[in-house]
Amino acid sequence: MRMVLDMDTGVDDAVAMVLAMNSPEFEIEAITTVAGNAPVVQCTRNSLLITELLRPWDPPPVAHGACEPLVQSLIIAPEVHGHDGLGGLLDTLPTPHHAADSRPAVELITAIPHDGPDDVSLVASGPLTNLAIALRTDPTAMAAYRRIVVMGGAFNVPGNTGPVAEFNFYVDPEAASEVLSSGLDITIIPLDVTTSTALTRETLETLVKSGKRTDIPAPARPGRNLAAILYRALDYYMNFQEDESGLNGGFMHDALAVAAALFPSMITTRPASVEVVTSGPARGRSLVLPPVNGRAVNIAIGLDAGAFHRVLEERVLAPVWGST
Ligand code: RIB
Ligand code: CA
Repeated sequence: MRMVLDMDTGVDDAVAMVLAMNSPEFEIEAITTVAGNAPVVQCTRNSLLITELLRPWDPPPVAHGACEPLVQSLIIAPEVHGHDGLGGLLDTLPTPHHAADSRPAVELITAIPHDGPDDVSLVASGPLTNLAIALRTDPTAMAAYRRIVVMGGAFNVPGNTGPVAEFNFYVDPEAASEVLSSGLDITIIPLDVTTSTALTRETLETLVKSGKRTDIPAPARPGRNLAAILYRALDYYMNFQEDESGLNGGFMHDALAVAAALFPSMITTRPASVEVVTSGPARGRSLVLPPVNGRAVNIAIGLDAGAFHRVLEERVLAPVWGST
């Protein structure tokens, strides 16, 4: 399956990137970045670093995308992901060896469907700014994507950015509204399912201690050690959620979007039209409406949590932390 990942590479995006790159079913054509969890320069840097640590001999192209939403002023989430998007490692993160692709994100997003024999899908795990611009630029190209899986929205659960809004849709509600009403084949992975299960602190610590690697918990300077970088990033991410809500661990929102693209049977969905509120106190709220003109997106309403955790264990936790 040819795949494009559009990410605001923060901590759970990084876990999703590891899952995608460790999945032989995927042929990752490109990773495109968008401002959200952190400024886009940092999201690009984080993506370059994670991809080259995973596949130094042939990392997928990483293309720099939108630095701010279509209309709104950018809001980032350093309290959740750290100032650098990977747990506040700040200057301890090594500098990536390879550079970003010379083409902007939207150019790759619209070019890729035309330049390959098989069909291509896309997972978006950040604000939908790049996708909205790509739709405006080349709607034919966007219609050529077989499936678009979007992590975003909250329907029957509280929001995580204010009382009703999910972060990705809150940051760029205009983009979310344009993309979700475009008629494209979109599957939404909302907080309703992504907060139904978490990677627990116990799982992370047990793996780290039982793994073959002896160099973690992360040393002060994690160097080019993916396990140490991810451990520190997840530790920061879990600390925030434990402090904020008493959760014992962290929600792997974006990894679930990738898992749903890999294994669609892992989720159950229902069709609906979705409108996103773009202003006022309900900004970013995702509303379910009856399908309009037959146009509907698929909203994930159920999850096989056991299957999800098995995929995380087999393709992220064990490979990274080396446990048997
Ligand atoms: O609301 C959760 C989503 O917002 C995740 O994609 C997280 O990485 C942030 O982008
Ligand atoms: Ca994200």
